[in-house]
Order: sequence, then C-alpha cells, then structure tokens
Amino acid sequence: MSETTVNRAFRLRKRPNGNLADGDLELVEEEVPELTDGQALVRTELLSLDPTNRIWMSDIRGYMPAVPLGAVMRGLGVGEVIASRRDDMPVGAIVNGFLGWQELCLADDNLLEAPLTVLPDPLPAPLSAFLGALGHTGITAYQGIQLSELKEGETIVISAACGAVGSIAGQIAKQRGARVVGVAGGPEKCRHAVEKLGYDACVDHRADDWREQLAAATPDGVDVDFESVGGPIMDEVLMHLNIGARISLCGMIAEYNTYNDGEGGSGLLNVGQLIMQRATIRGFLVLDYVEHFEEAINHLAGMLGEGKLHYDETIVPGGIEKAPEALGRLFEGSNMGKLLLRVAWD
Ligand SMILES: NC(=O)c1ccc[n+]([C@@H]2O[C@H](COP(=O)([O-])OP(=O)(O)OC[C@H]3O[C@@H](n4cnc5c(N)ncnc54)[C@H](OP(=O)(O)O)[C@@H]3O)[C@@H](O)[C@H]2O)c1
Repeated sequence: MSETTVNRAFRLRKRPNGNLADGDLELVEEEVPELTDGQALVRTELLSLDPTNRIWMSDIRGYMPAVPLGAVMRGLGVGEVIASRRDDMPVGAIVNGFLGWQELCLADDNLLEAPLTVLPDPLPAPLSAFLGALGHTGITAYQGIQLSELKEGETIVISAACGAVGSIAGQIAKQRGARVVGVAGGPEKCRHAVEKLGYDACVDHRADDWREQLAAATPDGVDVDFESVGGPIMDEVLMHLNIGARISLCGMIAEYNTYNDGEGGSGLLNVGQLIMQRATIRGFLVLDYVEHFEEAINHLAGMLGEGKLHYDETIVPGGIEKAPEALGRLFEGSNMGKLLLRVAWD
C-alpha cells in the first residue's frame, strides 16, 4: 500500500460532555479506494479550527446537522489535489472547503456536504489567509459589521477582540471611524489589540477590575456590540447599551462546552436591557450571505493591499493527530488570530 492511499481521519465516537475528552474522537487509518470518474483526492495542508466544531459535535438544535456518530469530523481546510478523475479539479489545484478532520479527502459530489472551491493560481495571498482574513472568518467580521449599521463616531465593543473574527472586525470598525473597544483575555492580548490592531481601548476580562475597565472605556455608552462570547461579558455589555443600540450576535463561545445531550446555554441576566434601551439583537450566520462573499473578499483584499489590515495566525504543528488538542486552544484563549493546524508538509 503506498503512503498516499492510506488516510488518517478522526471519526466522532461520542458526543462530548463539557470539554472535548479522550474517546470522543478516534484517529483511524483507512485505505483510500481507487478513484472513479467524478472523484478527486485532496491532501489537506491546513485545517481550520473553529469554535463551531464543538457545536457540530453536539446534538443541540443547530444550524447544520450534527456530525453523525461514526462519521469523519466535519472541518474546513485547504489542500492540494493529488489525484483526479474530474476536469474541474486537476492535479495540483489548490482547493478550499469541507475537507474534514483527515489527511486525505475524497472529493466526490455525492459524498461532500458542499462543493470545494478551487483557489486562483497563482494565489494572491498566502494559503493560510483563505481560512482567515480572506476566508470565512474575515467574511464573518465584514458581514457582522455591515449588519450592525455602525456609523462614524459610535462606540462599538468587540469581544474575543484578538481572535480570527474579532481582530478583523475591529479593524473594519476603526476604518469606519468608530470608537472601538475590545475585550480580550490577558495584558498581552490587550496590548496587541491597541498597538497592532488599532483598538482605542481593550478590556482585560481576566483582570479583577474588568467591569470597571469596561465602564471606563465606554464613557459614552455602547452603540454596537459585536458579540462573539456571550456569558458574563455580554451580560455586562448589555448594562452599557445606549438607546437604539444594535447587537450583532456572531457567537457565544463561552457556552459551547455546555451543549450536552441536546441542551445547553448559560443564561443571560440582563436581557431586559434590550427593552429599556430599545435595542435590537440580530443573530447571523455567514453561510447565509454567500451572495456578499465576493464584495467582502474584495473589501478585505483591498485593505490588505493598502497595508490597512493586519492579521495574526496561530499555526499548530504536528499533523492531524493534534486536531482535538488544538481545538481546545480556542476555549482556553491560547490562540492569537486565526487558529490553524498544519496537517501536511511539503
Ligand atoms: N456567525 C457566524 O457565521 C460565525 C462564523 C465564524 C465564527 N463565529 C463565532 O465567532 C466567535 C469567534 O470565532 P473565532 O473563530 O474568531 O475564534 P477566536 O476568536 O479566534 O478564538 C476564540 C477566542 O474566544 C475567547 N474565549 C474563549 N472562551 C471564552 C470565555 N469563556 N470567555 C471569554 N472569552 C473566551 C478567547 O479569547 P481571549 O483569550 O481573548 O479570551 C479565544 O481566543 C465564536 O463564537 C464563533 O462561534 C460565528
């Protein structure tokens, strides 16, 4: 059996209860069948680790079906076509899409949840950017700011401020002339938010006085909350909303590890503030805005080209076996910018 015909993949064996634990996923070695017409074989180069991976493992009422027990874990990645029996994906093409938590993905219209996208050749930016600043997280940031109708001079709070989505949202918000206040974990991230990403202030949610820091950073209240965390941070931001404030509800990572046995959620205490302040809250999913992807990518690529967009990446080495451990970094906050796993080396 040659090296490229054996795939190593993570199959979901148990729905996690709390943090992902040993035994929830199993790393298996499987022979790749001979390609038939309409199939291509893609070697994953980089795997995107996303908070939503934890949602997909649970059987909570979600926005996509839960990954079935026994199936290869769903995941986004970029990779290279290494064998092909289809014209739209020649050998050597670089593709982006749901490659799964595995080294080799059999690209077959009947097997894949969504078609893979063939990236331009030559690539206009480093490959990793297509899973981050110029990929789904950058587009999410752009879309969330668009929906918030953020205006010049307004104050916006952005949680997970140094993360893949937050770091890009912060820079777009600054470009729009807003006062941009981040919330991040630890002094290093807060310094980075201000000095590198251009936030006006950043609240360290790990500090004892974080509530006071938030009040001091938002003297004119909060017009927009770009919310990625939920839990106590969102609850406190609710107490600073101005009349007519808008919340772009992007994510609630603080509660994903409570999504067990079809239930979960931490419960917010201050939701009544939406009434008092006549505020609106809008949950959104980037997948619903496919028709705006081109506009978003053009905008982000333009900022990048003009040197007005800084993006960070944390690329975990070690191959596919590191995927579960790497995912945990999102929940402990030990990533700066987009979290990726290097699956293959040249
Ligand atoms: N709606 C959509 O279409 C869409 C698309 C993509 C992502 N999202 C959501 O956007 C959010 C960010 O995703 P991302 O990929 O950019 O991840 P990320 O921000 O790069 O990483 C997650 C960050 O969340 C923070 N965090 C984790 N647990 C926390 C807790 N209990 N309290 C406070 N902060 C916590 C950590 O930052 P600190 O170290 O600063 O605490 C961590 O670095 C997630 O909620 C995700 O589900 C939504």
